[in-house]
Amino acid sequence: MAIKNEDKPLITVVGVLGKQGLSAANSLIASGRYRVRGITRRTDADAARLLAEKGVELVNIPLDVGYEAAYRNAFRGSDGVFLLTPGIAPPDTHEFELGRQLADAAVAAGVHRAVFSGLENVEQITGGTKFAPHFTDKARIEAYIRTLPLKSAFIHMAFFYTNLPEFYTPVREGDTLVFPIYLPEEFRAPFVDPRTATGPAVLEIFDHFDQYEGRVLPVVGELITPAEMVATFSRVTGKKAVYRSAYQRDEFLEHFPDFRPNDLLVDEIIGMVEYAVEYGYFAPDRDLQWSGSVNPNTSTWEQFLRDTGWQGERRTF
Ligand SMILES: NC(=O)c1ccc[n+]([C@@H]2O[C@H](COP(=O)([O-])OP(=O)(O)OC[C@H]3O[C@@H](n4cnc5c(N)ncnc54)[C@H](OP(=O)(O)O)[C@@H]3O)[C@@H](O)[C@H]2O)c1
Repeated sequence: MAIKNEDKPLITVVGVLGKQGLSAANSLIASGRYRVRGITRRTDADAARLLAEKGVELVNIPLDVGYEAAYRNAFRGSDGVFLLTPGIAPPDTHEFELGRQLADAAVAAGVHRAVFSGLENVEQITGGTKFAPHFTDKARIEAYIRTLPLKSAFIHMAFFYTNLPEFYTPVREGDTLVFPIYLPEEFRAPFVDPRTATGPAVLEIFDHFDQYEGRVLPVVGELITPAEMVATFSRVTGKKAVYRSAYQRDEFLEHFPDFRPNDLLVDEIIGMVEYAVEYGYFAPDRDLQWSGSVNPNTSTWEQFLRDTGWQGERRTF
């Protein structure tokens, strides 16, 4: 017998119109086993209307510090929450505080279970030699959540395929698209499509929370080198394309001069990629097969290119 809607557990998703949040909301709703409440500033956007048509209740709160009471109210009645922090560029440093406020609001609202989208503690792993606060702050949030009186589990997303269209767009030189990539040409790195891979992982965790409680689950689409990414792009689109290194700081700045005014942000990007190359993106004991085993349709880079029809232009998702 079908479960009546009001009897389904309610999961509240922050950043519900972002890449991870939308994916999570869509998978939870499509399963038919959950009600979903989503938090966004853009409650009148087309994407919000589409979610509302599927029965998602939308609440307007910025994903920012200073809204703990609003989050407490929005989380009330939720069995679970999917929490994430947005990209926060230095010199701003409030990522940990935002994560703490979201988690405290969940506890105060009586939420039983939280899934948080975290990353590794680069500060600890590298003995403070690599600067990647958007990793380390997430690890600190994770550690804080573990101290709270609610059940928790953690996903760690790989590098997003969407970074290339969104932030590190190729440039045309004659008949060739030049891909400046922030990783060495033959370095095999974990990548993922956050728009399609987040949801199945979050759904699997909420469906079997006792099995996943306390665990860190990496979400990976493909382990792939920049050389392979560029060759695959050429094969799929029929366009000539070459790799160009943006791994060293001077190379990065030459290809992405827009980053020049924010030295700290450049430090952070370089710190992150050096960490990934020298230590591995994920801690050595992580199960990189997990997301592929719970969702055999997890997109490869090739599938991402085919699904999105991306031809090398700047595009936001
Ligand atoms: N790029 C990568 O390779 C990668 C890999 C692993 C993890 N991550 C992490 O993923 C996170 C981003 O997730 P995502 O890509 O799913 O996010 P996203 O698509 O950028 O969406 C995040 C949502 O947060 C809200 N938001 C963003 N900035 C805000 C601000 N200043 N004030 C208020 N609300 C704000 C926006 O919601 P509304 O506009 O709808 O209100 C936005 O839709 C970051 O923490 C990043 O470190 C990234």
